[in-house]
Amino acid sequence: MRLYIPVATGVEASVKRELVRLGYGECPAVRGRIALEGGWEDVARLNLRLRAGERVLIGMGEFPAPTFDDLFAGVSSLPWEEFLTPHARVLIDGKSFKSRLAAVKAAGGVVKKAILTRLKAHGAPLFDEKGERAIVGVSIFEDVATVTLDTSGDGLHKRGYRVLTYDAPLRETTAAAIVEDSFYGKDRVFCDPFCGSGTLAIEAALYARNIAPCAMRNFDFAAWKCVPPVLAREREAAREEVCRGELAPIFARDISPRAISVAKEHAARAGVAGDIRFSVADAGDFTSAEKFGVLAANPPYGARLGEKEELFPLYKKFSRAFHALPAWSAYVITAYPAFERAFGRASRRRILFNANIKCGLYTFFGEKP
Ligand SMILES: C[S@@+](CC[C@H](N)C(=O)[O-])C[C@H]1O[C@@H](n2cnc3c(N)ncnc32)[C@H](O)[C@@H]1O
Repeated sequence: MRLYIPVATGVEASVKRELVRLGYGECPAVRGRIALEGGWEDVARLNLRLRAGERVLIGMGEFPAPTFDDLFAGVSSLPWEEFLTPHARVLIDGKSFKSRLAAVKAAGGVVKKAILTRLKAHGAPLFDEKGERAIVGVSIFEDVATVTLDTSGDGLHKRGYRVLTYDAPLRETTAAAIVEDSFYGKDRVFCDPFCGSGTLAIEAALYARNIAPCAMRNFDFAAWKCVPPVLAREREAAREEVCRGELAPIFARDISPRAISVAKEHAARAGVAGDIRFSVADAGDFTSAEKFGVLAANPPYGARLGEKEELFPLYKKFSRAFHALPAWSAYVITAYPAFERAFGRASRRRILFNANIKCGLYTFFGEKP
């Protein structure tokens, strides 16, 4: 099967690196998604283990669709009955760009009708939509439609550990991409001095322990009748590969006691509470006895009026604390516009989005160990 992994802006390189580590080699990326070949075992493996990828989709087909008739004919020619029962609850996720079929809702209606018609032609009784969920993606670009079936269901950022709400959390897949991007490993000290609900520290611990981030949750494909029993096997294999040894300390700090209690609860649910040292502290006082370390942070960026100016002294103080440790590297994601003016010029900067807010990921490389 052709599989696609959609990736958010700015994290493509991190997902590609993950795929190399998982043994899939160099995979090409086209228009925001990475393509590879695989079977059901790979579907299970990737859903469980991908850290920064958003979903695992099956490529059902690609064909020219300049008109609704072409779209209908193309979708009805695909073997839906091999994947879905007549009871499937089909949901359509449509997109169109630079194409004549720009009315996405109408195109979605045509896609759904084509699937139902195909299933009926293969002896399906009345479609009652009380069965398994199947999210069908249709993306039309320059009059060519790509049709996919979403094996994940809920996005892979939903690991299952983040059950409490706290201010402006970082998406789990974005946090994982930052960890992947850093030179962090289980022998390196890690610190998030603005930890909020704990996402960066938890993703670092999951990475260091080689814990499959989605091991606790379920996926839509598990309910599809066509799928062999691969998920339980892959879950077991992932459990056996967890690293049980010592980790260098991971610190999670925040000025808010409530943030620390939320982060502790999330870490416990993720199974990494014992790997993270939590404390209430001001990031401006950050210091460490360790010569080398990785600092990853998502400081406040000032969403409310007037707050941006108030943040400048905080960023300045945090900068002085960090630059006092020249062998530490820092990875700071923020939408704060004056970040480099306050903190210093980054060695590298790239654009990422967090909850649709455009952010910079600023990297400061420390001396090499
Ligand atoms: C954008 S949130 C971090 C969200 C976090 N990455 C998550 O995924 O939940 C910024 C955090 O910085 C904390 N904060 C604000 N000022 C601080 C300071 N001076 N020192 C430490 N933490 C601070 C806030 O309490 C808040 O939790």
